[in-house]
Amino acid sequence: MEERKNHIDPAQKALLKTAEELFVRFSSALKTAQIYAPNNLAFVKQISPLFTMLQNILNDWGQAQFHFRENTLFFNTIRVKFDFLSFHKFKLLAEIFREREIGLLGFASGLDNDEFNQFVVLLANSKTNGENPFEDFKAKIESDGLNHIFLEKLHPFERAASKKPEQVKQAAKKVFIKSIVHLKDVFNKEPEEKMPRLRTSRRLIQSIVNIINQDEAFMIGLTNMKNFDDYIVYHSANVSILSVCFGRRLGLDRKELIDLGISSFFHDIGKLGVPKEIIDKKEKLNDEEKKIMQRHTYHGAGKLVCLKDVSYLPVKAIYVALEHHLWANLSGYPKYWKRDTISLFSKIVKICDFFDAITTKRPYREYVLNRDEALSLMIEKSGEEFDPVLLKIFANMVGVYPIGTLVALNTGELSIVTETNPEVAFILRPKVKLITDEIGNKIDGEIIDLTERDPETEEYKRSIIKSLEPEKYDIKPSDYFLAQEN
Ligand SMILES: [Fe+2]
Ligand SMILES: [Fe+2]
Repeated sequence: MEERKNHIDPAQKALLKTAEELFVRFSSALKTAQIYAPNNLAFVKQISPLFTMLQNILNDWGQAQFHFRENTLFFNTIRVKFDFLSFHKFKLLAEIFREREIGLLGFASGLDNDEFNQFVVLLANSKTNGENPFEDFKAKIESDGLNHIFLEKLHPFERAASKKPEQVKQAAKKVFIKSIVHLKDVFNKEPEEKMPRLRTSRRLIQSIVNIINQDEAFMIGLTNMKNFDDYIVYHSANVSILSVCFGRRLGLDRKELIDLGISSFFHDIGKLGVPKEIIDKKEKLNDEEKKIMQRHTYHGAGKLVCLKDVSYLPVKAIYVALEHHLWANLSGYPKYWKRDTISLFSKIVKICDFFDAITTKRPYREYVLNRDEALSLMIEKSGEEFDPVLLKIFANMVGVYPIGTLVALNTGELSIVTETNPEVAFILRPKVKLITDEIGNKIDGEIIDLTERDPETEEYKRSIIKSLEPEKYDIKPSDYFLAQEN
């Protein structure tokens, strides 16, 4: 996944190193506090150097704060990066913050060893099953007189976005269904009342962006949901999800992603002006019908121009409605819309639109392409119809977990994809080879089928949380395949 580059000035590099070490020690101390009693030697050995470190930081920098934001941990102003060995430690700390809805944890000067010990034990072992985990935890800190520790609650937006993997998947399904209901409302009304409620659209797209930040792969997996009868509705939702995922990989910021999502939602709104007989016609369209169909770009742009709620609708949406059938070489349609360039949003939507359309069954399309076939067809048209650089990035994105991808599992194990699952419903459950155990030790593990379920609970035994960049973990996936062949 594309990551934004952090420009860290040299003065901060020392802090970064210290922060990383502090983070690893803090996480280990919490783990130990979950297992041993506070007077146990193992715990004491962990906590003393950690406390000394914290004291030094407070003396040197005057503050020591952990922030948890967008599933990322920051220490003071530095983003704490985890590597191959510290991944499971990051996971533990992130989980502890998330369960207690902590957005910020700070230590103030004057903190002593006892207070710190007490706090670590409390943080590691406090219950989180109440309705208000943050308030409960904060009350406990205050009643125990831990005065040099301060906490801030996760921002509501962050709370919504920092759910557990299973909750994120549930939320993803919910927002997908809500989007379908909303789009049905837009596309199935009588012509006069077909003005979309843009506030609702915008709120839905905001949720989609939040969820994509948490679990992009699952959201892309949802775009496999197609509906033959309600094509335009599902198509609009799918194109919107694909575009936002795509835009995120291109490094667009949150506001731009929301604008892109809205623009994609309504890219085909002009089809409301095309007679149903033409849209659903089984046979090839004749020239006249083709012309009428192609006019959906003008109809769409016109309709969006007329919408009053401009604050919820970006001007770019009008360009997308107009330009999403233009080719990279400026052919395509509308024929009389000629500019030297096509907007980035339109190029993105063009790719996502084409991909979703040719992988969906339609009255006039007997053979539906699978993802690989669709991508090969599009790659043949690279440069002419599609922007070649964008297409490459897109191909990388929708081939969700191609063979050789390094992935983190919900068990804490790392593994490499060895075989993709041909069933579309199981696109997120390939076969993987385990290469570390749960605590990060490298192993020559077995090959696991991720569709395997626990016979008792019926739950999947393992699931992928996210894909990782092999270079960062000093892993060469090719080594594992070469080893297999011997
Ligand atoms: Fe279109
Ligand atoms: Fe479309």
